[in-house]
Amino acid sequence: MYVCLCMGVTDGQIRDAINEGCCSYRDVRNALEVASQCGKCATLAKQVVRETLTEVQSSQAALAYPANFVMA
Ligand code: FES
Repeated sequence: MYVCLCMGVTDGQIRDAINEGCCSYRDVRNALEVASQCGKCATLAKQVVRETLTEVQSSQAALAYPANFVMA
């Protein structure tokens, strides 16, 4: 879905930017220029960034478990 109509930025593009290294709303804004015109999309853009960062952190936390090997 389009988050920023002025710059034509979608939620998928925001998620991709985070998966490619953006770590904050400021990073995403600098990379995609979201909310750089009228600013009406800022709240939704921040929400998408927050949700995506939470998902990334949760998925990384799920990987941080000790390996459990059993000798056969
Ligand atoms: S809708 Fe994003 S800057 Fe206008």
